[in-house]
Amino acid sequence: MMRAPLLPLPESHVMDRRPSAAAAIAGALFLSACQTPTHRPMEIVTTPFGTTADGQQVRLFELRSASGPIARVTDYGATLVEMWAPDRSGEMADVILGFDDVRGYESDANQYFGCTTGRVANRIAEGRFELGGQTYQLAVNNGPNHLHGGGARALNRVVWDAEAAVTEEGQQVRFRYVSPNGEEGYPAALTMSVTYTLTADGDLRIDYEATSDGATPFNLTNHAYWNLAGQGAPTVLDHELRLNASRYTPVDATLIPTGAIDTVPVALDFRSARPIRDHLEGVAGTSTEGYDHNFVLDGNPDALDFAAELHDPTSGRVLSIWTTEPGIQFYSGNFLFGQRGKRGATYAHRSACCLETQHFPDSVNQPTFPSTILRPGETLRTTTLHRFSAR
Ligand code: BGC
Repeated sequence: MMRAPLLPLPESHVMDRRPSAAAAIAGALFLSACQTPTHRPMEIVTTPFGTTADGQQVRLFELRSASGPIARVTDYGATLVEMWAPDRSGEMADVILGFDDVRGYESDANQYFGCTTGRVANRIAEGRFELGGQTYQLAVNNGPNHLHGGGARALNRVVWDAEAAVTEEGQQVRFRYVSPNGEEGYPAALTMSVTYTLTADGDLRIDYEATSDGATPFNLTNHAYWNLAGQGAPTVLDHELRLNASRYTPVDATLIPTGAIDTVPVALDFRSARPIRDHLEGVAGTSTEGYDHNFVLDGNPDALDFAAELHDPTSGRVLSIWTTEPGIQFYSGNFLFGQRGKRGATYAHRSACCLETQHFPDSVNQPTFPSTILRPGETLRTTTLHRFSAR
């Protein structure tokens, strides 16, 4: 582990939008720079990422792989800040939304960009649940419901401990956080780690681990917003999506599951790859205001199995996702409002989408859904893997 200053990518090598010929040359230069890095290849470079409003210093860690992809993660919210992947001609682009420093992540413009989301990802009806004969009331921060772990002490808003290591698999950062009993209204103290590993092959794997000193609902995800043309490109609606899901969990007007598990209707049928925009009108005028649905994965629930593939036909970039989780929330960036993000990019309505591997929303109140209750003595382990390619 070393603490040498990060060498920023020269502006001419930074590709956020659709490639030009000049950019292709720059990309090739960038790739060759990757192959002959100016710092030792086994080093994990760490740089300051600003100071939080309450005075905590936050860091950015750079993970590199021999095969090209580069990830940058911060200890604020155990967040994925940048993800660089090559297109079909080798040109690199940063394919997720985010901010240049921690103040951006603390601002109202941040809609959970790249963060670790929890203690319970997605919604809990009216922020209320019963467990062990007690009723718990959480923050109501999304209409009448609780969303993504609540307020100022939700997991995306706290600074995690970080430990960087180079392993046989690749470069990794393990973030650890102990959430005290009662934090954000949740019962029990939780000890968690979120480990980002960029393998030598360029896969980004996220391993989650947690133990608890009492029964508590728990459901972590990563909330990266993807645009495979490069962050700041105007829309993601021409990306083709394939989901390994023949069923989904329908929701009511406030996006709480009804409890049913139904076969996907035409608008939600992504079993064969197709452009996201094709049946958008089937969901745009509904309570979800676009795609914002939990899909029930058809894969083996006990294994790391295929969940989703996203393909940008223009650049050729492909993201495929494998997970041990039973569900995936496909959200088409319906509430992006043109906020300003990394390196001056603008994030227009539906200019990125999220593919959040998870247990189903409101599981704590839905007895027929797979349980999200973590109990003392158990160790919860889940994994989601992101693979980048081009065609
Ligand atoms: C939810 C959306 C929400 C978005 C951003 C997604 O996970 O499903 O309803 O608007 O996160 O907060």
